[in-house]
Amino acid sequence: MCAQKKGRVFSGARPTGRQHIGNYLGAIKNYVALQDEYDCIYCAVDIHALTTLENTDKLQENIQEMMLDWLAAGLDPQRSILFVQSHVPEVMVLHTLLSMVTPYSWLTRVPSFKEKARQQPENINYGLLGYPVLMTADIVIYKADTVPVGEDQLAHLELAREIVRRFNHLFSPTFPEPQPKLTQAPLIVGLDGSQKMSKSLNNHIELAATPEETHKRVMTAMTDPQRQRKTDPGRPEVCNVYSLHQQFNPDKLDDIAYKCRNALRGCVECKGMLADGINRELKPFRERRQGLVERPGYVKEVLADGAQRASVIARETLLEVEEKMGLKAKA
Ligand code: TRP
Repeated sequence: MCAQKKGRVFSGARPTGRQHIGNYLGAIKNYVALQDEYDCIYCAVDIHALTTLENTDKLQENIQEMMLDWLAAGLDPQRSILFVQSHVPEVMVLHTLLSMVTPYSWLTRVPSFKEKARQQPENINYGLLGYPVLMTADIVIYKADTVPVGEDQLAHLELAREIVRRFNHLFSPTFPEPQPKLTQAPLIVGLDGSQKMSKSLNNHIELAATPEETHKRVMTAMTDPQRQRKTDPGRPEVCNVYSLHQQFNPDKLDDIAYKCRNALRGCVECKGMLADGINRELKPFRERRQGLVERPGYVKEVLADGAQRASVIARETLLEVEEKMGLKAKA
């Protein structure tokens, strides 16, 4: 018997190309798990990617590579809808309509807007200001109630709920208030040990890397800065490599920590074990991904089917909104 699903999940990610182990542990793994309990819709948000105008020449390639990673990781196009934001243009119409119920002052106080405005003072565009309105439209056009995100998106979701409440108040209850579902993943630090793992900081390990590349990248990782020589005792609790061991070698942690603390194993050997652990864990993923790469046109087919299924829901919601706002005669 098929159990009743709990509700509808929507999440989006900017198409950044090949995904790394931080993306996997922080988001993708969770997306995969949610498919069992919810109706899931996952989207590559290409329009959002335009707000910072990075990599638009690589946009198509980045979408393709991210989707290959999502599919190989276990997002299942039979169960979930996988699509590209701009392929369902109704969301841009809803964005415009929602913008009419969104006070300007709500948008200028969003922390990510202020930060982006600081980072790119030469390109504080109108789209950047409207970013959270488009994000709200993404979610509510599918009437999703649950949104798996990282902490950095909580302010956006708060705003989404405010916009929804205002719309529902002005035009009668229409949208559920979307709730965040925080991933219970630890922060995955980059190989440089300083910040979050990220492609733009080039401190990442791609899921699709070869075992040799993985080994080479891991060897560049920072360890406990106080451990200068092999004979110095190390501190696993501050070591970035150890935090990755927790993810990829959970069965060997006691041995790893003990030998580190007592200077019985050097960092180079310890990193080799980490590379082996990562390669072991990712082997089935990498095989599945290669299988998908060898099916030309497969990703395009998945995305065309996803856009088609998403459009059916989006058109229905948009029609309801247009009627409520007086743009169309009520049916
Ligand atoms: N803003 C999100 C990010 O940068 C991406 C995103 C766009 C999103 N639309 C969304 C996330 C809708 C969740 C739901 O990560």
